[in-house]
Amino acid sequence: MINSPIPSVLVVDDAEINVMVLKEILSDEYTVTTARNGVEALKILYQTPLLPKIILLDVFMPEMNGYKLLEVIKADKKLKRIPVIFITTSDSEPEALSAGAVDFISKPFLPETVKLRVKNQIELKNYSDNLEVMVQKKTAELTATLDNMLQTMANIIEYRNLESGNHVKRTQFFSKALIDYLLGSSSVYADELRSLEPDIIVKSVALHDIGKIGIPDKILLKPGRFNHEEFEIMKTHTVIGKNIIESILTHTETSYLKHCRDICYCHHERFDGKGYPRGISGYEIPLSARIVSLVDVYDALISSRVYKTACSYTEAQRITRKGRGTQFDPLLADAVLVLQDTFQEIAQQNQ
Ligand SMILES: [Fe+2]
Ligand SMILES: [Fe+2]
Repeated sequence: MINSPIPSVLVVDDAEINVMVLKEILSDEYTVTTARNGVEALKILYQTPLLPKIILLDVFMPEMNGYKLLEVIKADKKLKRIPVIFITTSDSEPEALSAGAVDFISKPFLPETVKLRVKNQIELKNYSDNLEVMVQKKTAELTATLDNMLQTMANIIEYRNLESGNHVKRTQFFSKALIDYLLGSSSVYADELRSLEPDIIVKSVALHDIGKIGIPDKILLKPGRFNHEEFEIMKTHTVIGKNIIESILTHTETSYLKHCRDICYCHHERFDGKGYPRGISGYEIPLSARIVSLVDVYDALISSRVYKTACSYTEAQRITRKGRGTQFDPLLADAVLVLQDTFQEIAQQNQ
């Protein structure tokens, strides 16, 4: 909304004399625009780039009365925050206030009363506008800080070499390709994905193994396969990750943090319920985590580790197909199979 440098008042009244008197009272301090009924007032409100700071509104008018006009104003996103004062011979003050007017002035009125009430309401409006701007600014600052913090946490994973090579980057690219495909292919997941803010899912993927921070080096950096006990400890990275994210979540809830928590906690669950840490199954596993589970395993397959050589893309494809409905969400696995060439390109460009 554009604010006029000189606050403007819109007077809506069909009685010429009232309009003249109000203009006389207010024009020292305000720019006064006038309309003779609701229809005319709306025309002005829709056309002007400078919305009035306040509207003084008569109740009984031809064409569109004051109540009807107020109803239209309240239903309009751009207009609904303009304060409206009823100024009328009607004695229905409660009705006027419950319709959404901020104040009520009875005719005949004292000029000083009109001046003061208009001034008060404009001050109140300015105050609430400033407060809103301040809240928006603070929220943006907080979001930026959180974004930074989560990004730093993602960097820690790379610095400490908790994942080999470009694993984090590749899982993000795979997720993005998969999500874009689902959104563009009228998949049954398209609507759910849109509501989950897909860009934020992709950002959150970077933190899927943040819980590995809490795993002792001798296990984390072991150049070989884990024994049973070591594997049990390794599994706890899911819960550690969830706890780290939740310690931030207690202070603020954002979809970014919620995705991070779901992904950290659930990216090793399996569709058939045989995963960890909880053994939840099917659609109980958040969609974001079902996506990460697939791309994480896919990337592990095509990457070499100290204890294993990399699988061929054909082998990774075969394992993905075999895992549809058991390890993986079948629809997501199908999508990964369709995207084989894209995945292969991503892998080759980010080795
Ligand atoms: Fe993991
Ligand atoms: Fe991973």
